[in-house]
Formats: sequence, C-alpha cells, structure tokens
Amino acid sequence: MNKPIIELENISFSYPDSNIKILDKLNFKVFKNDKIGIIAPNGSGKTTLFYTIMGLCKPFSGNIKILGKLVKTEKDFSFVRSKIGLMFQDADDQLFSPTVLDDVAFGPLNLGYSNIDACDIAKKILYDLGLEEFENSITHRLSGGQKRLVAFASVLAMKPSILLLDEPTAGLDTNAKEKIEKILMNLDISYIVISHEFNFINKITNKTVSMENGKIFKDDEVHIHQHEHIHKLGKLPHKHV
Ligand SMILES: Nc1ncnc2c1ncn2[C@@H]1O[C@H](COP(=O)(O)OP(=O)(O)OP(=O)(O)O)[C@@H](O)[C@H]1O
Ligand SMILES: [Mg+2]
Repeated sequence: MNKPIIELENISFSYPDSNIKILDKLNFKVFKNDKIGIIAPNGSGKTTLFYTIMGLCKPFSGNIKILGKLVKTEKDFSFVRSKIGLMFQDADDQLFSPTVLDDVAFGPLNLGYSNIDACDIAKKILYDLGLEEFENSITHRLSGGQKRLVAFASVLAMKPSILLLDEPTAGLDTNAKEKIEKILMNLDISYIVISHEFNFINKITNKTVSMENGKIFKDDEVHIHQHEHIHKLGKLPHKHV
C-alpha cells in the first residue's frame, strides 16, 4: 500500500497567549510523487501548517508522522529537518551567512559534506539558478528578489526528500519565476507549494488544496479556476485569490 510520507492527524494549534485555533483538528496526507499547491487567503494558517510539519510550532493535540515515523521530540524533528527542506516566506529568516556562497553551502556542510563538496554543490545550484555572479556578494545587500532566489538555492542544496515552499515566487520577475518553475518541473521529489499565483500553481503541481477555519480542503472540494469577469479598474493588472 502507498503510505503517506507526511501525515497530520487531528492537529490543533494556537499561538501562545491566544485561544484562537489556527489549526483545528486538521488532517492532511501527502504521498510520494505528490506535488501539492496550497492556495488560501492571508492569515488562514498556511505558514503555520509548514512550521508545524517542521516542528517549529508545537500542536497541543494530534499526531505528526513523517516518512512513516511518529515525530514528537526535538530529536525526532532534527531527523525531519534533515529530510524536509523549508523555504521560508521571508528570505531574511533563511539567510544569515556573510556571503551568498556561504549561505548556500551552509546546509550541505551541516549535513556532513566536506568544505570542497559543500562548495561544489552550492556553486552548481547557484549556476543552475543563474546566480553564479553573486557567489561572493554580501547576502543582506541583495535585492528582495535576489534574496528569494538565494533562499531557494540554499534549500535545494540540502537535497531534501520533500520540499515545502512558502510563496517562492512572491516579488519575482518573470525570468526568475521561470527559473523556479523549470527547476521544480524537473525535480523528482514531492513538494508542497504555498502561492497566491494561479498560473504558477497550475504549472508545477498535480493537486491543489485550500485552507479555511484551521482545516485543509481537498482537491475534490475546491475548484480553483480563472474566469472572465468585469469590474472597475479591471484593465489594470490585478489578482484574485
Ligand atoms: N507568532 C505569532 N503569534 C501570534 N499569532 C500569530 C503568529 N504568527 C501568525 N499568527 C497568526 O496566525 C494566523 C495564521 O498565520 P499564518 O502566517 O500561518 O497565515 P498564512 O496563511 O501563512 O498567511 P499569509 O498568506 O499572509 O502568509 C494569522 O491570524 C496570524 O496573525
Ligand atoms: Mg504565510
């Protein structure tokens, strides 16, 4: 039988000093080869869901199983973090090394690769993303879009078995977006992508879910679609979520 690689059972979570349940008896299964898009409104708990999978938010009830293993303790979650790569919504949460190359090589070094091998892995990924000219740049001086691409590179460098991408294309130009799309379309691993961009999600995923009231809505319950519509200022570029 095809067992889930991520399984959340009846997960409930509130932030400290709040009684609002951001996740409320949430159930979610991810299987091998799933490429899942999450499209849901601001504040619906998408980032919190990713943090829960990574052990950064601790639910007050429910079970989390990753690659068939029940995970509860900090030690369990270090295993999770070696298998699942999270690209943070805010690149500044991801990047902390002095230079771009240091930032991208940090993950492989941490996984036990030698200096030379970590550097080679980082250089290859930076090249694939067209970022080789930034290798020696000071990370915190890059533009927002450049930082986001470097954050993406730093997650890929860890060669994760599963990827969680939190709005990877927000603020990126068409060229940068296409680079991310191309890499994702050629990746042979499962991933979950949060995005508000219909076309991007449509291209790179094979399932779509949404979130509301602390729960996940599955594909057969959501029908995300583009449609003809008329309203004021409709000629200006705009988005619908
Ligand atoms: N550290 C925190 N402390 C208290 N409340 C928080 C914290 N982080 C998030 N929240 C609240 O939890 C809810 C869900 O936040 P979350 O960031 O998971 O939403 P999201 O779906 O990722 O939104 P967005 O699309 O804007 O990124 C929001 O109402 C938010 O205000
Ligand atoms: Mg978010």
